[in-house]
Amino acid sequence: MINMFLTKKEQEMCDGEAGETIRKSMDILVALGDIYGASKLVDITSAQVSGVSYKTIGDAGLEYLEDLARDGSGKATINASLNPPGTDLDNWEKLGFPEYFAIKQNQIVDAYADLGISKTCTCTPYLVGNVPRFRDHVSWSESSAVAYVNSVIGARTNREGGPAALAAAIVGKTPLYGFHLEENRKANLIVDVTTELSGADFGALGYIIGKVVGSGVPYFKLNNVPNNNDLKTLGAALASSGSVALYHVEDVTPEADIANKHDVEDIMFISDKEIQETRQNLTTTDKQADLICLGCPHASLEEIKQVANIVKGKTIKNKLWICTSVSVKATADRMGFTEIIESAGGNIVCDTCMVVAPIEEMGFEVIGVNSAKAANYVPSMCGLDVVYNDVENLIQFE
Ligand code: F3S
Repeated sequence: MINMFLTKKEQEMCDGEAGETIRKSMDILVALGDIYGASKLVDITSAQVSGVSYKTIGDAGLEYLEDLARDGSGKATINASLNPPGTDLDNWEKLGFPEYFAIKQNQIVDAYADLGISKTCTCTPYLVGNVPRFRDHVSWSESSAVAYVNSVIGARTNREGGPAALAAAIVGKTPLYGFHLEENRKANLIVDVTTELSGADFGALGYIIGKVVGSGVPYFKLNNVPNNNDLKTLGAALASSGSVALYHVEDVTPEADIANKHDVEDIMFISDKEIQETRQNLTTTDKQADLICLGCPHASLEEIKQVANIVKGKTIKNKLWICTSVSVKATADRMGFTEIIESAGGNIVCDTCMVVAPIEEMGFEVIGVNSAKAANYVPSMCGLDVVYNDVENLIQFE
């Protein structure tokens, strides 16, 4: 029995009158809504679908997607893009990705494209055309992207699983509960940061607070104004050590004024000491990194420019990947940043990232990262050591 209210048209979709793909998608959305006590479905303007890397979904996932696509009765009805796959889809061979993996990976992305999901493969879709408006309801699934779209853009999403975001993309609706409701967007922990932060400090801060707050909503009082790159780093870390989907930053993020900070009783002070200790603890080895992997979440043009300025005219000793989307790389190509980075021995790697790529099969042992999310996941998901530091300290020159 379905508990939530459905319109006549939605009920017909549930009954299979619009085809099998839509019926299966409605099944997922209605089950989710009933579990979380949603009153109804709400229209969405955007979806971001995870569950793309062959490393995480394997043959079973590929089969499921191909079955759904073969049916042909349902395709995405709204702006929908994909999370990173496990390879650079175009340059996998040149970059040394295993062939068996690349073949499967392309089949997965093709199946999603048959379902109407754009081959824009990135965890920063808000930089490249999948940009909701303030207060739009959306269905996004990659955790750092969820934190960004909720907190920095002020759109509304829960942390969706890949199948739920795909179902929402096809139906164009999602169940109305959780962070879609104003009352659940209030803060429940004040974080007073008593030191100025820069670079990898933001990831360290997010890592500390994510562990404390879990799925809560932290409200930050910062000593200096973060830029958008700092906010994406902060949100990614919050969402990886905890399961934060929404945070507020005083005088910075759009809903900070309605976060009800005056009602919050829990307050935590973070000083430089905690930030420095956490930075050290995120490093798991004394060895030097053999691969520096930047772009977690996927790099913006400004971040690529910063690296180009650091490496210009020099030769990099360790390997360097900067992970980003094809669209950001296209602009980096035009600006001459790609040429500078490649001349120094680095690569701009599209689509994929250090966590969802099979880097453990590619001969690397120690990965240098400036992202606390990557530092958290590379040891557990890839079985490799990490060095956590700022970009300028990670890259070694001949
Ligand atoms: Fe994106 Fe991969 Fe990091 S999906 S947030 S670059 S772990």
